[in-house]
Amino acid sequence: MAEKQTFYITTPIYYPSDKLHIGHCYTTVAADAIARFQRLTGKEVHFLTGTDEHGQKIQRQAQAKGKEPSEFVDEIVDWIKELWRDLDITYDDFIRTTEPRHTEAVQAIFTRFYEQGDIYKDKYEGWYCTPCESFWLERQLQDNKCPDCGRPVEMVAEEGYFFRMSKYADRLLEHIEKNPDFIQPPSRKNEMINNFLKPGLEDLCVSRTTFDWGVPVPFDRKHVIYVWLDALTNYITALGYPGKSEQFIKFWPADVHLIGKEIVRFHTIYWPIFLMALDLPLPKKVFGHGWLLLEDGKMSKSKGNIIDPKVLIARYGSDAIRYYLLREIPFGADGVFTGEALLKRINTDLANDLGNLLSRTLTIVERYFNGVLPAPGMAANGDEELKSLALETPQKMAKSMDQLQFSTALMALWELVRRTNKYIDDNTPWDLAKDPSKKELLGAVLYNLVESLRFIAVLLKPYIPRTPPKIWRQIGIEGDEGLQNWEALKEWGLIPPGSNVKRDEDLFPRLDIKKEMEALQGGGREQQKSAQKTDKQKEAPPSGKQKGLTEGMVTFDEFKKLDIRVAEIIACEKVPETDKLLRLEVDIGEEKRQVIAGLAKHYQPEELVGRQVLFVANLKPVRLRGLLSEGMILAATDKEGNLTLTTVEERIAPGSPIS
Ligand code: MSP
Repeated sequence: MAEKQTFYITTPIYYPSDKLHIGHCYTTVAADAIARFQRLTGKEVHFLTGTDEHGQKIQRQAQAKGKEPSEFVDEIVDWIKELWRDLDITYDDFIRTTEPRHTEAVQAIFTRFYEQGDIYKDKYEGWYCTPCESFWLERQLQDNKCPDCGRPVEMVAEEGYFFRMSKYADRLLEHIEKNPDFIQPPSRKNEMINNFLKPGLEDLCVSRTTFDWGVPVPFDRKHVIYVWLDALTNYITALGYPGKSEQFIKFWPADVHLIGKEIVRFHTIYWPIFLMALDLPLPKKVFGHGWLLLEDGKMSKSKGNIIDPKVLIARYGSDAIRYYLLREIPFGADGVFTGEALLKRINTDLANDLGNLLSRTLTIVERYFNGVLPAPGMAANGDEELKSLALETPQKMAKSMDQLQFSTALMALWELVRRTNKYIDDNTPWDLAKDPSKKELLGAVLYNLVESLRFIAVLLKPYIPRTPPKIWRQIGIEGDEGLQNWEALKEWGLIPPGSNVKRDEDLFPRLDIKKEMEALQGGGREQQKSAQKTDKQKEAPPSGKQKGLTEGMVTFDEFKKLDIRVAEIIACEKVPETDKLLRLEVDIGEEKRQVIAGLAKHYQPEELVGRQVLFVANLKPVRLRGLLSEGMILAATDKEGNLTLTTVEERIAPGSPIS
């Protein structure tokens, strides 16, 4: 037998500086769905997650709570492990950067860098963002704040060890250019090349002396190793590196590092350079996904808008939360979490489409065949179509999963769910049952429905793992593992007739949206109330209505309320599954924004990158196809529908106001 193909997937290791929120769950659930899908298709998977426990931020948080850092992180790590258990995360290894298997390896790596001349000692003087644990040059700051998180930076001046990044920059650029899959999605690749590699890489300070919660530099104990060097190496130390472990040989290089967009720089510049210095192959893919935002922007403690995942899981169950996270937002782009969208997904997709399909089917088998599955037989309406769709769906999903597009994979699966529901409506079993001569045909229809449910249940395994066993139990194949795997999706008609089916619990009881919204808002969702208020304000009649000659005109003050600026398009791609929409990232001076615009029929994404356009920056954000659009790009359209972007005559600093 051919040896099993391997697949190594990682999540970022989380800072245990506080409890995690629903945004953190997004990456881990995504990684789990990929890991489970790869296992389902027969690969030998290694799925790594863990915690990034050192650094100044954690030390300060612990101090603020009057605890030793180790005691402080232990409690949060227990909480995180419990969260992953509640969300059915099937990691194979959980690494903590405080474990000796890691700290000893990091010291060995640091020593090797030093001995081979990649690290030298000097003095660091510059800016540091403690929440991001990130060094910045003066010119990189935005309004004197951290360009990644917008929080204040601190001036630090200390002796430090420096890594010669510049030595490897050309090799890295060549690697990125020759391997288009290495940084995904492509917009993130352009950002790394244009903003960091092309302007020239500075050497990186890789040690700190002003606090001690870190891995000590083995030959200079005044220093602790910079937390990002410490953290990034977890992906290899967990496999036993630098020892020659079987696991390392089997799984390195990683197939995919899943990370959030704000840490792409660390993973696609520093990490590959460290690996080059260690003479190791680079990971095959680094995928930087977007953020899960709230309607009023980022989740943060200070805004008091954190969504506690444990509360959601306890109320709606882990499968519902997993489904929502995987289905709602195309992976890669920013998306908005709303209670309403979650409840709608539960009621529409899970309770109506899936849950009803199972209960309708089983009710009919119980009523007309005493719960005994009839034999396949005479052709009914749409048999062939249903069968071929079921047989095609696994491959369609596999293709989407290879591109890490879970929402597209789930859409393909729901096409089968909906087609199966339609098969019931097309064949009206309750009418067939009235005519005894159609008993055999009725039996065939029911057999096909149950067989389609078998396909659906197997394909649901990676996404909502608690549901398939419930379906198998009800369709009577609970103990028959041979019918529950990927191989069993190659053939239609495998369920043996005569099996006993038995309808029991509903898969997803329907929710009362109004009641649930109240419960969710009661959970501290202040921003939803403020959003409602803004809607009401919008409905109110405009003050100072003008009559006569000035009717329909705006005053200068009203005009001034519009914040129109020059924006530079820094990234652009098509929104999957639409033919009109483009997702753009624009630089508007002090910040970057995501905009969804109906430009795809008029411009190719590549044509737009680098262009300067006019942009309305204070338009209320909206959600289009689950994606957050924060502003509007202005364009002119003629009567024939030809469209052209409005722009400035000469290049000017992004963010320049229009007046
Ligand atoms: N410890 C570093 C990672 C080191 S990896 C070698 C770190 N930790 S973190 O806890 O701050 O963030 C971990 C991950 O959670 C990041 O990928 C980040 O993008 C992700 N998310 C944090 N908030 C998020 C959302 N609101 N939405 C989506 N992902 C979010 O960075």
